[in-house]
Amino acid sequence: MNRHRILVTGGAGYIGSVLCPRLVQEGHEVCVYDGFFFGRKPVSDLLQKPGFSLEEGDIRDRGRLEQVFRAHAFDRVIHLAAVSNDPSSELDADITRSVNLEGTRNVMELARQAGVARFLYASSASVYGLREESRVTEDLELQPLTLYARYKGEGEEILSGLVGRDFEGVSVRSATVCGMSPRLRLDLTVNILTHQAICRRKISVFGGDQVRPNVHVRDLVDFYTLLLDAPGVSGEAFNVSESNATVREIAEIVRDEIDGNIPIEVTPTNDNRSYRLDASKVTRQLGWKPGRGIVDAVRDLAAAFADGRVPEPESSRYRNVALMSEKLDFWRRFA
Ligand SMILES: NC(=O)c1ccc[n+]([C@@H]2O[C@H](COP(=O)([O-])OP(=O)(O)OC[C@H]3O[C@@H](n4cnc5c(N)ncnc54)[C@H](O)[C@@H]3O)[C@@H](O)[C@H]2O)c1
Repeated sequence: MNRHRILVTGGAGYIGSVLCPRLVQEGHEVCVYDGFFFGRKPVSDLLQKPGFSLEEGDIRDRGRLEQVFRAHAFDRVIHLAAVSNDPSSELDADITRSVNLEGTRNVMELARQAGVARFLYASSASVYGLREESRVTEDLELQPLTLYARYKGEGEEILSGLVGRDFEGVSVRSATVCGMSPRLRLDLTVNILTHQAICRRKISVFGGDQVRPNVHVRDLVDFYTLLLDAPGVSGEAFNVSESNATVREIAEIVRDEIDGNIPIEVTPTNDNRSYRLDASKVTRQLGWKPGRGIVDAVRDLAAAFADGRVPEPESSRYRNVALMSEKLDFWRRFA
């Protein structure tokens, strides 16, 4: 296995704080560049490990980013930093544009300028929008419906424009992620329903027939690790998803795992929009597929709740839009 010097933007977030220990464990040098909106605690224990470092900074601060690229000779970048869901992105369009578009452009341009050989970009399955097609594959035209999805798609375009022989780029169109993380999010479908079952002893779903693709956070991390060296992937986008399940099916998996007596309360809704994802390309091309299911995420979360790793579960710190609306000034710094 090759050892890399990897910059992980947004590395202290939900996905990053599972990814970074894994990269360190595999012997890579890892530098997290993050504004630490959720604090640095999720990754601060890693500072004891050789080869791990933290750099505080905003991806909109081009000068600071340049400094960090100069100080480390990175050969890989994994770009996770973002206003990272639809509702948070709708709070303030200027902030979202400045972070998800301009900040992303900064990271991509500076990475190429600094001689980084491969760039992995956290795009999202939301770039497809709502589709009638039964198989939502990577070759479909993007039809983003939200600001969040639109900038994810535009980020892919920026990357495509920069990719060349000496600068490889891959876009990861991930399904909604689930499972436990040192920086837990309880605003993602499986995690929301698990929290409800454990803490409120009731699961509430609206409609329930909507299909949602999901992937376990540790599977997504496995995939990023694979992409560090996978051959023939430059210029490609990959869907990553383990299953397409309806919200009601997810609720039933959660209930059956936590306690079969927990009621599932269904509120009728007109919004029965479904999102599906066909993730077969990654298996065909790279021989990889996720190894964990929704039930594994529910088990991990249940164990974390049981042993006190989720203090104050109703707190806004587990919910991006709630925390962001309390702290908009934090984000306005460079907007
Ligand atoms: N979680 C999911 O279900 C999911 C699905 C598809 C794609 N993604 C994408 O994966 C990435 C990571 O998602 P996550 O769930 O870990 O999100 P998260 O909100 O938990 O983490 C984002 C991290 O980025 C940092 N950050 C945000 N803006 C920054 C800025 N301007 N400068 C520096 N740091 C900044 C935050 O401090 C945080 O540590 C995001 O780009 C997200 O859009 C996530």
